[in-house]
Amino acid sequence: MKITTGKSVSRKEFLRTAASVSIVSALGIGFYGCSNSTDAGSEQPPQVPSDDGAITILGGGNTIEIDLTNNSVSDLLSQGGWLLITAANTLIVNVDGDSYRSFTSVCTHQGCSTNWQFSNNLFECTCHGSRFDTSGSVVRGPAASNLTEFTVTVEENKITIEK
Ligand code: FES
Repeated sequence: MKITTGKSVSRKEFLRTAASVSIVSALGIGFYGCSNSTDAGSEQPPQVPSDDGAITILGGGNTIEIDLTNNSVSDLLSQGGWLLITAANTLIVNVDGDSYRSFTSVCTHQGCSTNWQFSNNLFECTCHGSRFDTSGSVVRGPAASNLTEFTVTVEENKITIEK
């Protein structure tokens, strides 16, 4: 299967993706979004297939393994590439081309966990517009607290995130 990494999402495409998320969530299947965006525009994470082995969630969501050799997550190899793993409430971003940081996707404002965009090195929770930098620090409210950061290790072509 293939992912879409377009820079903009039409309303029709967004609604179709939202419907897919609802269906996937209802089936209890993980949903993943991945994108690379360093331009000025905001970007929703396109869907990444959950059944192609790119992402493995272990320990009830406390450990996440990402296979960087899988084309579904190839955007993570570049600076600004990011991933929303809704099945484990996790964000990860390639901050400089070589290193990664990972955070909870549960917004510290009112707990939205799936409405994330990333551009210009900022995560935005579109529920109410809070923004966080690639350290997880709040740069614009209404959120008042930083995102909880998770431990990331990279070995060869595998990223491991541990909560
Ligand atoms: S829940 Fe994220 S900004 Fe309100």
